[in-house]
Amino acid sequence: MTPDTPRSVSPGNPPARPRRSVRSVPPIRSLRSLRRLPRRGLPLRLAAPVDWARQRPTWREASPAVIAAALKRSAARPSGNWYVLGPSKEIRPGRPHGRTIAGTEVVAWRDTAGRLLAGPGACPHLGAPLRESPVHCGRLVCHWHGLALDGRGAAGWEPYPAHDDGVLAWVRLDAVGGEEPLDRPVLPARPPRAASLTAVTEAEGVCEPEDVVANRLDPWHGAWFHPYSFSDLTVVRAPGVEADPADAEEDGFVVEVSFKVGSRGTVPVRAAFTAPEPRTVVMRIVEGEGATSVVETHATPLGADDRGRPRTMVTEAVLATSDRPGFALARAAAPLLRPLVRRASARLWRDDLAYAERRWHLRGTGRFPG
Ligand code: FES
Ligand SMILES: [Fe+2]
Repeated sequence: MTPDTPRSVSPGNPPARPRRSVRSVPPIRSLRSLRRLPRRGLPLRLAAPVDWARQRPTWREASPAVIAAALKRSAARPSGNWYVLGPSKEIRPGRPHGRTIAGTEVVAWRDTAGRLLAGPGACPHLGAPLRESPVHCGRLVCHWHGLALDGRGAAGWEPYPAHDDGVLAWVRLDAVGGEEPLDRPVLPARPPRAASLTAVTEAEGVCEPEDVVANRLDPWHGAWFHPYSFSDLTVVRAPGVEADPADAEEDGFVVEVSFKVGSRGTVPVRAAFTAPEPRTVVMRIVEGEGATSVVETHATPLGADDRGRPRTMVTEAVLATSDRPGFALARAAAPLLRPLVRRASARLWRDDLAYAERRWHLRGTGRFPG
């Protein structure tokens, strides 16, 4: 089936009327999930959903050359050799966190002041997996023979630079990245954390980071591939093949899209996609509900699986903010809302990982058409 082929119009049925009419706010009471939200200034609209098969095909605009050129420019930007270790909250006091990044085993933990520490995950004595060792009084104590590490170099163990940005934990692996090191990871502008609801989701796939980034640099797939989340998507600006790679902000895509809320509500926004470094794509809402909110997608190479296939961890950080009066309440309820945000994000990522894995598979077999 091609994207032009309607899949839900059967020959025996009269063609459905194109349904793009939009009514504004009054009937909002019918949306159960939003019943308690303040209605003043609510940008939510009720719109009959655009029939999936009747939306405008985007494949002609989704130029493989434009996506490939944007991917190439993102790959040329510096990362300073920083890699995402995981959500900050998952590295808790009193226990270590382990991750293998590009085949390098890393262990991280926190000292008594809560400072993030990281280093090689194999004990320098006889190779014990330090991710399984306990943390005592801020020191990681090897459970095989008791070598205690306080984050400084000892017995042949040398720390890696680590950074906690409050949402994500990072480690710098100079031998892996091979770039000029930077003191800090390249982070996009974020809304203030005190005014944001944050949630981090992780999912692992069989592909390379570039497949994840390429998926994000194809904004045209949104309403086609994720009709449960998006509708009415138009890419209003795409960088040319020759865009200036030095300007990560201008070298981006701008999209007008409606987020679906419930079965009949939509929230229209304008969003920009940029790639500030080779393994990160950021979607920032630039206009509409939640302006300045960001969704960061980070792709971290993990190494090969037992069949020699590359594995990549996708870490998606959502920092949602709103000047809507009810948002303070939403933030107060953050521990309850976070799993919901994660679940929505996980569904998108199941599909997007399938896209990335398919892209890797086609590339690996010389069949990728782009
Ligand atoms: S293996 Fe860690 S102290 Fe011996
Ligand atoms: Fe997607």
